[in-house]
Amino acid sequence: MERWETVDIGIIGGTGPAGRGLGLRLAAAGMSVGIGSRDASRAQEVVAGMVETWGSRLKGSITGGANEQVAAAGMVVLATPWEAAVTTVRALEPALRAKVLVSMVNALVREGREMLPLVPARGSIATAVQAAVPGTAVAAAFQHLPAREMGDLDAGIVADVLVCADDPSATAATMSLVERIEGLRPLDAGGLSQALAIEAFTAVLATLNIRHRAHSTLKLAGI
Ligand SMILES: NC(=O)c1ccc[n+]([C@@H]2O[C@H](COP(=O)([O-])OP(=O)(O)OC[C@H]3O[C@@H](n4cnc5c(N)ncnc54)[C@H](OP(=O)(O)O)[C@@H]3O)[C@@H](O)[C@H]2O)c1
Repeated sequence: MERWETVDIGIIGGTGPAGRGLGLRLAAAGMSVGIGSRDASRAQEVVAGMVETWGSRLKGSITGGANEQVAAAGMVVLATPWEAAVTTVRALEPALRAKVLVSMVNALVREGREMLPLVPARGSIATAVQAAVPGTAVAAAFQHLPAREMGDLDAGIVADVLVCADDPSATAATMSLVERIEGLRPLDAGGLSQALAIEAFTAVLATLNIRHRAHSTLKLAGI
């Protein structure tokens, strides 16, 4: 049986493209990763597919389990749809207490060939999540990475990852996590209130991608 507390990174809602892509890159970099789902058997199926395709390229490991199980990992990432973010973390609060939780969640809606940002109560999903689990140090990061490329180890990715958090230890831990992935550069973007602009900017990137049939990401000049 998996000892979930020894897993490096647990990804809640990890069976979607975003969580799978991040988990794959972290496992390729040598970390032990738990992919979480509301249904443990679904997570195990998803992981079996990932290992079948990429197993020989993984320096670390990937395991599938229930969200409750992967939330026991040393550090946790939230990768659910925005509508589910607050209720999901609230239900997992005891497991998340005194840990770093990284939200990669964006609140967006599509209108024709445009993605529009929704502004949630408290300004961003990350700040709403922080309010839901006050005993957890929430950071926001990874919102701008294209899931499809992250999930393809043959796709080179070069990107800046903006990291924000109110707790400096959450910023530091998240920046170290970003650094594990080749091609990604973490940038400390300040406190969690910056998540409002960071999450909303994803709508601009996604709209560019729709209009230009691209999979762009963020790379800042001058820094
Ligand atoms: N797609 C991208 O390129 C990308 C990039 C960066 C960030 N993001 C953000 O990352 C998050 C995940 O993106 P995604 O494209 O992977 O999303 P997704 O496929 O729609 O959802 C991810 C997973 O969340 C779980 N889920 C769905 N509805 C739920 C609910 N009501 N309650 C609890 N869990 C639920 C599902 O897992 P189970 O059914 O197995 O529980 C699903 O596989 C989003 O907030 C997105 O904005 C996406």
